[in-house]
Amino acid sequence: MKDELLEAAKAVREKAYAPYSGFKVGAAIRSAAGIHVGCNVENAAYPEGICAEGGAITSMVAAGDTEIFEVLVYAEADTPVAPCGGCRQKLAEFAGPDVVVRLAGADGVTTETTMADLLPAAFGAAQLK
Ligand code: THU
Repeated sequence: MKDELLEAAKAVREKAYAPYSGFKVGAAIRSAAGIHVGCNVENAAYPEGICAEGGAITSMVAAGDTEIFEVLVYAEADTPVAPCGGCRQKLAEFAGPDVVVRLAGADGVTTETTMADLLPAAFGAAQLK
């Protein structure tokens, strides 16, 4: 069966704008509305760059969803690329602890983890009450 999330992340990675690092990343999120993708977009003012995961989250919210069912991050590195710390927090806003995050590269999906493993003891909305 076709792995739609993998194909979507792989395709959007090609569109990444990464002239400074040369490191292209694609992210795909599945929600009720379907699949939402994002790629990293760097900037000459380096800290202004945005990660692939952030773009996919924006796309999901723009489509009207606020609940993530599954995440896949695609990069072509020697080892699977996990979301950076900031992106883990951004994902945790919309993904519960059991949500699966798959990490993929040229060899396909090599690692499968969960939000709970990526961001234990996460800070969340409950703490603001
Ligand atoms: N990057 C992502 O887009 N997502 C990740 O999960 C890790 C890192 C981007 C940020 C930057 O454009 C490039 O990869 C190198 O850090």
